[in-house]
Amino acid sequence: MKNFLTEIRYGSTTASNSLVMAPMTRCRASDDGCATKIMEEYYSQRSSAGLIISEGIQPCLVGKGFMNTPGLHSQEQVETWTKVTNSVHDKNGKIFAQLMHSGRIGHHLNYTEQLQCIAPSAVCAQGEIYTPEGLKSFELPKEMDSTDITQAIADHVNAAKNAILAGFDGIEIHCGNGFLIHQFMAENTNLRSDDYGKDITGRLKFALEIIHQCALAIGADKVGIRISPENPYNDIYEGDSKLLYQTFIPLLPEDLAYIHIMESNNREMTKLIRGLWNGTLILNPHESVGHWPSTVQILDDTLSSKIADAVSMGALFISNPDLVDRIRTGYELNNPRDEYFYTGGALGYTDYPTM
Ligand SMILES: Cc1cc2nc3c(=O)[nH]c(=O)nc-3n(C[C@H](O)[C@H](O)[C@H](O)COP(=O)(O)O)c2cc1C
Repeated sequence: MKNFLTEIRYGSTTASNSLVMAPMTRCRASDDGCATKIMEEYYSQRSSAGLIISEGIQPCLVGKGFMNTPGLHSQEQVETWTKVTNSVHDKNGKIFAQLMHSGRIGHHLNYTEQLQCIAPSAVCAQGEIYTPEGLKSFELPKEMDSTDITQAIADHVNAAKNAILAGFDGIEIHCGNGFLIHQFMAENTNLRSDDYGKDITGRLKFALEIIHQCALAIGADKVGIRISPENPYNDIYEGDSKLLYQTFIPLLPEDLAYIHIMESNNREMTKLIRGLWNGTLILNPHESVGHWPSTVQILDDTLSSKIADAVSMGALFISNPDLVDRIRTGYELNNPRDEYFYTGGALGYTDYPTM
């Protein structure tokens, strides 16, 4: 299969093929959120992807949801990420940093300081999260006041600048999967009565301010966004999703590097967004139930149908560092071992064989 082997542009970045490594949290960072030597090796191994999107990276400590996830808010974190981006660029790869503030999806035991999770409203998520003391229920977050909102926007801008300092080719702002920005966008998590809530325009204000201010700080052509329309992951209910995205997409800077959709058995929604967006579209394709995880056939179908310009894959990039070459040559694929997705260490991380 060769239809993905053509150059593609994401704003100011030119990638050698249209296969993207999807962002994936792997919990291999140090306790203080620094990238580790093993992360350098992991990303370097996967640098033949046209574009790598890093795991979710917190823009500030309170944005940290999960244990051993990395940040981009200290000098030391920037220095350690520089080694990762160098290792990818040394092999002619490209890498964007996914900025992910987890909002209410966290736990006070996962912070290195005494902090409480923050969210647009004090609504607790249903579900559990791993902490150093084992699996715990999510906690009631603090409702963000105007100072918290201003700070969170500034933290995203600061992290965007830090990403560029660390050598990333750009950033991806995570507006999906039930994390902070999505919590502002969704009906069940945003009960605010001020300008950042009330109706769809209000619920989109936080996302749009972050996107526009990051674009102003580092250039819109270095900023992509990720959305996950209609996906209930992390106890999210968007309300009228069609109207939400019909309002959102036309308000984005036209020259953003890309929109990245995580599809959730809803091809009609993907088509709706494609119709509203003239820029580059990356699709993480799951057209219908049974299409998880993505497969090579789905990659082929997606690009042939031109529903998207590029395709991202998650699980198969975990288990196949040389996924591009394997697909190009039709070589057999390794299966991902999901028991090691979040465990730390080399096992199930850097030990998958190449062809
Ligand atoms: C281990 C793991 C961690 C993930 N972490 C993130 C993340 O940090 N940010 C994000 O946007 N999506 C995350 N995802 C979702 C993936 O980016 C992708 O959308 C999902 O795996 C479906 O694609 P696939 O069928 O190709 O695996 C994660 C998925 C997996 C398997």
